[in-house]
Amino acid sequence: MQEFRELADKLNRDNDLPRSEFLSLIAMRRNLSSEDRSYLYSLARAKADRVYGKNIYLRGLIEFTNICRNNCNYCGLRRDNRNVNRYRLSKEQILECADRGYDLNFRTIVLQGGEDLRYTDDDICEIVSGIKERHPDCAVTLSIGEKSRESYERYFRAGADRYLLRHETANEEHYRHLHPAELSMKARMECLYMLKDIGYQVGAGFMVGSPFQTEECYADDFAFLHKLQPEMIGIGPFIPHHDTPFRDMPSGTLEDTLFFLALLRISFPEVLLPATTALGTIHPLGREMGVKAGANVIMPNLSPTDVRKDYLLYDGKICTGDEAAECRKCMEMRMENIGYHVVTSRGDHVKFKG
Ligand code: 5AD
Ligand code: SF4
Ligand code: FES
Repeated sequence: MQEFRELADKLNRDNDLPRSEFLSLIAMRRNLSSEDRSYLYSLARAKADRVYGKNIYLRGLIEFTNICRNNCNYCGLRRDNRNVNRYRLSKEQILECADRGYDLNFRTIVLQGGEDLRYTDDDICEIVSGIKERHPDCAVTLSIGEKSRESYERYFRAGADRYLLRHETANEEHYRHLHPAELSMKARMECLYMLKDIGYQVGAGFMVGSPFQTEECYADDFAFLHKLQPEMIGIGPFIPHHDTPFRDMPSGTLEDTLFFLALLRISFPEVLLPATTALGTIHPLGREMGVKAGANVIMPNLSPTDVRKDYLLYDGKICTGDEAAECRKCMEMRMENIGYHVVTSRGDHVKFKG
């Protein structure tokens, strides 16, 4: 399609499009030939290669608590879900996981959890500084939700380098469809601006194909991301979880997820862009295809095997029965198979020198 390639080329040149052209571009995604798709992915990959080459950065993910005070309509860990076997890892267990990750050559440790207030700011600071003391050459990323500015500042002073907090959607109406009334898009966005201001490398992001998402929503997401200028952008397909209000909603598609990964890479050439576990869940080679469409980060699981099956945001999650060492080796092989190399490095954003 001539018109598609012209718009893709224009986006590639300018890193952005006027909203009406962006909307035309994404409306065409349903009718693309495989040649047009390959063309888009090759534009994206060329931009990634120019900044990061064939390097793939690993993040070791520790899912340290599946207890959450929130009730997001899409998430299997929502507080109303009585069918979750809830767990918390102790500080010692978390540090052990991080040690194991270090031995497996991870140089970023991501601490992710539900919004579990049992962990105080002191606890979080102790865990962060514990990891940094034992492994000063590691980056520590937090992904523990909405907190006060003071808390974010304390974690940063304790040594946290990065913070992941997906904005989920930059469209007000859509935000209200996805979340209960007590959560607000404004609060979420304020957290993201605070985190940037404090000095974190910040990750935002959204789900692809979530219920009630429209093309306008994607345009809002891209506009918001251009304003925020996050260092990382996490996207993956929405996948229904059987114990949530969205149990009967369809998953986001592989094609759409790859399409938006490519658009993000073209629009944000320097951003750290993971090929997510959710993408690997909807297709056995989803993460490989994500890399070929512009992703350059993979986040294998470091959580203890016995709790993995209890951290289910969505149905069918992969790697819940595998040891950390297996996932580490598996990813290395998968990346070599497609001509990419897993590197032992913190993998900071190019504007940050760790
Ligand atoms: N499908 C896909 N992604 C989900 N997340 C939560 N629930 C689901 C789901 N059902 C994503 C959200 C959250 C991140 C940790 O996982 O975007 O920010
Ligand atoms: Fe809690 Fe995060 Fe799930 Fe929302 S998405 S219910 S904040 S774990
Ligand atoms: Fe976990 Fe392949 S990444 S087994």
